[in-house]
Amino acid sequence: MVYIRRISLLFILPLLFSCGRNNKDVKQSTVDKNKIENMTNYTEQFRPQFHFSPQRKWMNDPNGLVYNDGVYHLFYQYYPEDIVWGPMHWGHAVSKDMISWEHKAIALYPDDHGDIFSGSAVLDSDNTSGLGTEDNPPLVAIFTYHLMAGEKAGRNDFQTQGIAYSLDNGDTWTKYDGNPVIGNTGIKDFRDPKVFWDYQAEHWVLILVAGDHAKFYESDNLKDWKHLSDFGRNQGAHGGVWECPDLFKLKVEGTDEEKWILLISINPGAPNGGSGTQYFVGDFDGKTFTADHKDHKWIDMGADNYAGVTYNNTPKNERIFIGWMSNWNYAQNTPTKEWRSAMTLPRKLSLIKEDNTYYITSNVVESFNDRISIVKEEESISLDKTFMLEHQNYNQSEIKFQTDLSKPIEIAFKNQMGETLIFEIDPVKKEMSLDRRKSGLTNFEVRFANKIHSLPYIVSDKVVDVRIILDWSSIEIFVDEGKYVMTEQIFPTEFYNNLQINSKLKTTINNFKLNTIKSIW
Ligand code: FRU
Repeated sequence: MVYIRRISLLFILPLLFSCGRNNKDVKQSTVDKNKIENMTNYTEQFRPQFHFSPQRKWMNDPNGLVYNDGVYHLFYQYYPEDIVWGPMHWGHAVSKDMISWEHKAIALYPDDHGDIFSGSAVLDSDNTSGLGTEDNPPLVAIFTYHLMAGEKAGRNDFQTQGIAYSLDNGDTWTKYDGNPVIGNTGIKDFRDPKVFWDYQAEHWVLILVAGDHAKFYESDNLKDWKHLSDFGRNQGAHGGVWECPDLFKLKVEGTDEEKWILLISINPGAPNGGSGTQYFVGDFDGKTFTADHKDHKWIDMGADNYAGVTYNNTPKNERIFIGWMSNWNYAQNTPTKEWRSAMTLPRKLSLIKEDNTYYITSNVVESFNDRISIVKEEESISLDKTFMLEHQNYNQSEIKFQTDLSKPIEIAFKNQMGETLIFEIDPVKKEMSLDRRKSGLTNFEVRFANKIHSLPYIVSDKVVDVRIILDWSSIEIFVDEGKYVMTEQIFPTEFYNNLQINSKLKTTINNFKLNTIKSIW
């Protein structure tokens, strides 16, 4: 019932009617949208200028992240008829650098097996599936079918896994006629398959989530799947349903040690409320995942980074992550009109080990730097008194500086309307925090701004970099090369034009930079 619970009354009414229709009707009603309409110049209030957002209508999770033949594909949960969640399709966009995107036609439509929920995509380079040829290997998408009629009838087997393939690098897709490839034996939440080729085990591995745990499968051909093992019933956070898993290997920076990382999104149950993504570090032997530790960490301590997963098949084998920059607590109520939601900036994930503890770090992909021009640089700024800097639009900017994590620092962005967004590093509380309570429009949902969001950190006198990236409706903060991350939406009614940095101690910050960021549209 997760899905029905989430949906506002306004949305339920049309849905009740549409459930009576068969799924072919759903397809017909949206098929005209296959042509991308040019209906925006991307300057509506709150429209992200350098984050991916759908041209129009509702978007949630990133899906099918795969690189092939010079192109990064971004598929996404998409409802082309409204700006709230509805019968899911896979929207599609492509990019050469993961920063500027070209919108493509909808890739996957609902069919008789159900709506198209989240999943992944692989390049089947050896044509193991037989769905392409040796010369033209297929892209294969693996996704969850969600049969709304089954859910409404109170059944428990309405989520199954299906596949589709493309022989023209993602432009057109054909569903496999043997779908579903994994049926359901009565597990209510049974979804979000992530598939990758395991080079050691020499087979495909699929991981999906089943309510409170993850399930692993193997296959030689992407069509016949064998259940291998389960993980997590007694591990990690369980404040909500597990969603959108991912599993991959990373080398510990500066060593030859390799560890497997398991990402699990959870909703609700994140530390700052609602949706969030936890991770485990451990080992995977081709069949079973074993975590090194009982506890779990979070990939991002801000409120708006959910359902994030990583790319398959990247050129340099880099682990690139994109998350949905929202939270189910209020995702359907945010104050945008033409479209709803954006993705986080793509981030390269790395693994570091400090004091015998593993941490994932997230750093924005290098190609982002091509969009930057320098506005101001200062080698050293004394915080004897508050440092103030006027700039016409901080909502399309990047701020960087270096500080040491034993010093208290407060950074505030303000506008003429009296709206303020505050990021604080507090070594006494051993916390960083983000306060968006007065950052702009907040009253569309009480849980958007009912508290300050915090991130516990390890206090030390280590000098670290602070990087803050602001768009028209988001802030992303990376401290200590992405060891500490906070991503949040904000809806200021005017651009912030005043930056204030202060400290309770007489201290300095170094290598300050203010950069503007060119729009991608
Ligand atoms: C995560 C999620 C997935 C599901 C999709 C439906 O946000 O709930 O578990 O596949 O969204 O749109």
